[in-house]
Amino acid sequence: MKNKIIITGGTGYIGSHTAVEFINEGFEVIIVDNLSNSDISVLDSIKSITGVKPTFENIDLTDKNKTSIFFESNKDAVGLINFAAFKAVGESVKMPLQYYHNNLNILLNVLEGMNRFGIRNLIFSSSATVYGLPDCFPLNENSTTKRPTSPYGNTKKIGEEIIEDFSKASINFKAISLRYFNPIGAHSSGNLGETPTGIPNNLMPFITQTALGLRDELKIFGNDYKTKDGTAVRDYIHVVDLAKAHVLALQRLIRNEVLENFEIFNIGTGIGYSVLDVIASFEKTTKQKLNYSFASKREGDVPILYASTSKAKEELNWNPILTLDDMTESSWEWEKKRNS
Ligand code: NAD
Ligand code: WQD
Repeated sequence: MKNKIIITGGTGYIGSHTAVEFINEGFEVIIVDNLSNSDISVLDSIKSITGVKPTFENIDLTDKNKTSIFFESNKDAVGLINFAAFKAVGESVKMPLQYYHNNLNILLNVLEGMNRFGIRNLIFSSSATVYGLPDCFPLNENSTTKRPTSPYGNTKKIGEEIIEDFSKASINFKAISLRYFNPIGAHSSGNLGETPTGIPNNLMPFITQTALGLRDELKIFGNDYKTKDGTAVRDYIHVVDLAKAHVLALQRLIRNEVLENFEIFNIGTGIGYSVLDVIASFEKTTKQKLNYSFASKREGDVPILYASTSKAKEELNWNPILTLDDMTESSWEWEKKRNS
C-alpha cells in the first residue's frame, strides 16, 4: 500500500510542484486548499505530468471544525506538508491581522489535527525572511534569526517557534522547517508554474510579464548596493529542486533519521546572483531583450541574501542541480504557455 501524505496549499505554486515529486516517488497525495490563491485546474496539470489526479478537499484551514473532520478521515496519513498560507509581503504590511489570522490559525488547526489523530511528521514552509536584516554571510541554520521586516515574515518566525514548542512537548511528533531562499522557475513540462494575481511583486514573474509585453518595463530597485554591479543579490532556487527537498525531508522523518524532534534546513543553492545576473540569464536563454530601468531601492529590501546549504547537502543528501539558466528559461516557457 502507498504511503499517504497530506499537502496543504497543494494547488499553489510550490505545493503543486511538490505534489508531482511525491507522486513520482510512489506516495498517495491528498491536497487540501481553499483556492484563495490557486486554481482547481492545477489538479489536471498534475495529472498530465504524473498520470495521477490527487484527491482534493476544498477546505479553509482556519475553520477548526472542518479541519478536524478532514483529519479524522485522513488519520492514516504518514505525514503532512504545510504550504497553506498568505504570502504577499507588501499586502501583509497593509493587512497584518488577516496575515496573522490566516497563517497562524492554519498552523494551529493543522497541529491540533495532527496531535488528535496521531499524524506524526510535519514539514513546514519557512523562509529566509526569518533571518531579518542579516549582518554576515552565508547564512547557516544557526545564524541569528531576527524580527522579520513584514508581518508575513513574522508569521514564519512565530510559526517555527510554535512548532518547536510543540515538538518539545509531544513525544511522537517530529517536524522539519525548510527555510526557502528565492524560489523561481517552473516545471519542465510547461504545465505548472507561478500564477501571481495582479501586478507581480517578485522579480521573476515581473521579468517574464515584461518580456511578454504585459508590463512596460522592469524597474530594478537600487543600483548602488555594495555588490559586484550595484544591484541586490539573492539566492534563487529552482522550484523543482525545492520540491525534491520536501520528499527527502519527509523520508528523513518517516525513517526517524532526525537528530532532534525539530530540525531546520536552509534550501537555496548557496550562490548569490544579482538582479542584473538574472536579467542576463533571461536574455541569453530566451533570446528576448528586456526593457528595464533603474529606480530607487525598495523599502525593506536587504542588499545581499544567500544561504549556506551544507546542512541540507550533508544530512538530507539534497543537491540542487538546476541552474539559473534553467530557472529563467522554464519561467519564460511557463509564462508564454499560460498566456497563449
Ligand atoms: P501560493 O499562494 O501559490 O500557495 C499557497 C496556497 O495556500 C494557495 O493555493 C492558497 O489557495 C492556499 N491557502 C491560503 N490560505 C488558505 C487557507 N486558509 N486554507 C486553505 N488553503 C489556503 O504560495 P507558494 O509560493 O506556493 O508558497 C507556499 C508556501 O511557501 C507558503 O507557506 C509561503 O509562505 C512559503 N514560501 C514561499 C516563498 C515564495 O517565494 N514563493 C518563499 C518562502 C516561503
Ligand atoms: C528579488 C530581487 C528586489 C522586483 C521575497 C520575500 C521573501 C520570500 C521570497 C516568501 C530584490 C529585486 C524585484 C522588481 C526588482 N518570500 N526586484 N524589481 O524580496 O528577495 O524575497 O520573496 O517567504 O520573504 O520578501 O524577492 O523576487 O521580490 O526580489 O529590482 O520589480 O529583485 O529588489 O533584490 P525578495 P523578489
